[in-house]
Amino acid sequence: MNVERSGIRPGEARHPDESTQEIIARDRNGAPAWAREVSYEYLGSEDIDKARYTEAAFADAEFKRLWTRTWQMVCREDQIPDTGNYYVYDIGPYSFIVVRTDDGSICAHYNACLHRGTKLKPSATEGSAIDLKCPFHGWTWNLDGSLKDIPERWDFQHLAGRKMCLPQARVETLAGFVWVNMDPAAPDLKTYLGKKALAHLDAWKLENRYIYLHVQKSYPANWKLTMEAFMEAYHVGDTHPQVAPANGDVNSQYDIYDEHVNRFISTLGVVSPKLKGKYTEADIIENFTLGDSSSLGGKKPELKAGERARQVMADMFRNMFETATNSDLSAVSDSELLDTYSYTVFPNLFLFPGISLPMIYRFRPDARDHRRTIYEVMFMRPKPRNGEFETAEVQKLADHQSFAEAEGMDPGFGKILDQDTDNLYAQQEGLEASAKMGLTLADYQEIRVRHFERTVDKYIAMEPFVPRIENLQP
Ligand code: FES
Ligand SMILES: [Fe+2]
Repeated sequence: MNVERSGIRPGEARHPDESTQEIIARDRNGAPAWAREVSYEYLGSEDIDKARYTEAAFADAEFKRLWTRTWQMVCREDQIPDTGNYYVYDIGPYSFIVVRTDDGSICAHYNACLHRGTKLKPSATEGSAIDLKCPFHGWTWNLDGSLKDIPERWDFQHLAGRKMCLPQARVETLAGFVWVNMDPAAPDLKTYLGKKALAHLDAWKLENRYIYLHVQKSYPANWKLTMEAFMEAYHVGDTHPQVAPANGDVNSQYDIYDEHVNRFISTLGVVSPKLKGKYTEADIIENFTLGDSSSLGGKKPELKAGERARQVMADMFRNMFETATNSDLSAVSDSELLDTYSYTVFPNLFLFPGISLPMIYRFRPDARDHRRTIYEVMFMRPKPRNGEFETAEVQKLADHQSFAEAEGMDPGFGKILDQDTDNLYAQQEGLEASAKMGLTLADYQEIRVRHFERTVDKYIAMEPFVPRIENLQP
């Protein structure tokens, strides 16, 4: 089949059905300005070279250029509230002890002993410590990284006059998260995110949420391929057919902001334009995935004659979340309550700040296998007014396990994530088997993929930055 030309300029074609903005405009509780804006830009139609997903050399270049220069989310601030609380953040070969120090500030120490290199704390651990002591010969540092003790110091006269502080990465806090960056020359985090995206992040007030469920699983594909599986709703109809009757998939909206942030808005409570006429408003409610609300006792409402499913669902969510979280959501728009707002923060973070399915995804490449990704999904809830909450510990799933097996996971949502995993097996293997050297992208629906890969290219074109004690701050 030949693809026909319509005469429309590249990037301007849209699904002819109702747009995301038209759907939102009909809601009773109107959306704020930042939700109503569109920010698409055509970035070309060339294929994306497959080598970036299949070659170990490309992953190596990323470790020297991209991961060492970008801001990465480590944990929530409330995971290390007190002096001595630490969280070990691992990214590829690098590892950091992110610790709350005596003066309340947070430091990110390179997780390696200055004697003979031993990791001071095991990877993927968290806990509390009064100092940082190496398990091998007992060299010890204070929480702020200053040297505390070298056993048998008489034998290290040659270190006289050297401070021997632990080298540190940069740390910032924003939206309740702790972030690190290895590059002393990188822009600060706010500049990195850009003004527009920062305004969105401010509006979502994620500092007022906490993580109540955290699940990790290894995915069988390159980290970029894995991330890109979540950047578009184009795949919903074929990959998640059970969702399409209640999801505006092919009329989702895609926006790009500067170089490090992009988003989509995918409406819920409306039928996919591909299925128009096949489902009634009552069917939409029947096919709605309740997400977090199922664990809070949410129930599908009855629809009265003439009512719009989307409005009834929004009202149901508003009432239920107000009761369950003891909060006032009367000013929150129907769209923020219902719809999937998905933001990518380069390089490896997704924020889904909407209220009915509020999530965080984090993707980290496996240091030893460029075809594997450590994927984490975290679910957020508003912090209760009494301030009592507990951040969830991570549940690690084995490869053969379904996401639905995680304790506290909505089974319907677990199934959606399993469907995505199955595609990734096939996609990584297919790319390696393919005689076609590039991936072809839709101009509009896959703009987030192109935008993301363009930023990858920007970092790959830079000189390597490999952290060495001489080129870091003390
Ligand atoms: S390697 Fe750490 S004290 Fe010897
Ligand atoms: Fe998916």
